[in-house]
Amino acid sequence: MLKSQTNILITGCSSGIGLETAALLANSGHRVIATMRDITKAKELTDKVSIPNNLCLMSMDITKPETIVSAVKSIIEQFGTIDVLINNAGITIDGFFEDHSPEDVEWIFKTNVMGMMNVTRAVLPYMRKQKSGQIINIGSIAGRWALPAISVYSATKFAVDGFTEGLRHELMPWGIKVTVVEPCFVNTNMVTVNRNVAANTANPHSPYYVMTEQAEAFYEKYGQKYEIEPEVVAAKIKEIINTSNPKLRYMLGNREQITNLLIRILPERLANLFLKNNYPAYE
Ligand SMILES: NC(=O)c1ccc[n+]([C@@H]2O[C@H](COP(=O)([O-])OP(=O)(O)OC[C@H]3O[C@@H](n4cnc5c(N)ncnc54)[C@H](OP(=O)(O)O)[C@@H]3O)[C@@H](O)[C@H]2O)c1
Repeated sequence: MLKSQTNILITGCSSGIGLETAALLANSGHRVIATMRDITKAKELTDKVSIPNNLCLMSMDITKPETIVSAVKSIIEQFGTIDVLINNAGITIDGFFEDHSPEDVEWIFKTNVMGMMNVTRAVLPYMRKQKSGQIINIGSIAGRWALPAISVYSATKFAVDGFTEGLRHELMPWGIKVTVVEPCFVNTNMVTVNRNVAANTANPHSPYYVMTEQAEAFYEKYGQKYEIEPEVVAAKIKEIINTSNPKLRYMLGNREQITNLLIRILPERLANLFLKNNYPAYE
């Protein structure tokens, strides 16, 4: 359990999970340093915050280390500590691996993996000095098992999962808690206006063209049926911050929790059969 007012740094607060988490935590009495690439996009967030003094906006692009270093320096100068870091900012680039250009792959890893690591690297010296702190990384169920047409996104989220697990062990001696939150489909801009697709996806000559159409139809239907709202993820993050001994992983989505359990207890062949029958799969 953290002290009553904590300084919480969150990345990617212009929309979705970051925005809802920033609003909820600021309205719950914490000081939230909400970062985003372009702070002119902050209106939706500021409109939701009823205690404006609890919200501090700063610009940060997690692929640009100089913006990370200057934001962290400024937080320490103004507020003295960073008690919680929520590594939320991320992107998706959907599509089959071969339809991705090398630049697509580099961009998504630079954001979802290197970006997260760079923010963590900038904050850690201060948390170690304090001998306390908490890091919450936003992973995904796609970081627990991988499915077609999101293999590259999945690879980044597996990296987030592994990074979180290793970091948790490394930081225990300093009293720093590390957790990964792994949501199922969430109704945010990531699945609408912020959705990116691999460069060759729309090419009818791609060998994956038909499979992509099938996968997209599947994911759209699945999302409509099972997606959760970003407020649910924000509430879980608030709960984690208020827990004395947070777990390594928190998975969100009832159906996904059952799938996760099954694929971990079933023999691999049966687990694969289960995935093939319940998610898009191709002979
Ligand atoms: N939506 C889902 O189904 C889902 C499921 C599981 C996990 N997640 C994870 O949840 C996290 C938040 O995503 P979301 O669903 O809330 O999507 P979102 O509404 O698209 O929000 C993503 C946020 O990340 C920011 N961002 C992207 N690249 C950035 C960069 N280089 N530097 C700083 N900020 C950057 C975006 O800012 P701009 O406005 O500047 O683009 C935006 O604020 C991501 O890590 C995502 O992988 C999402």
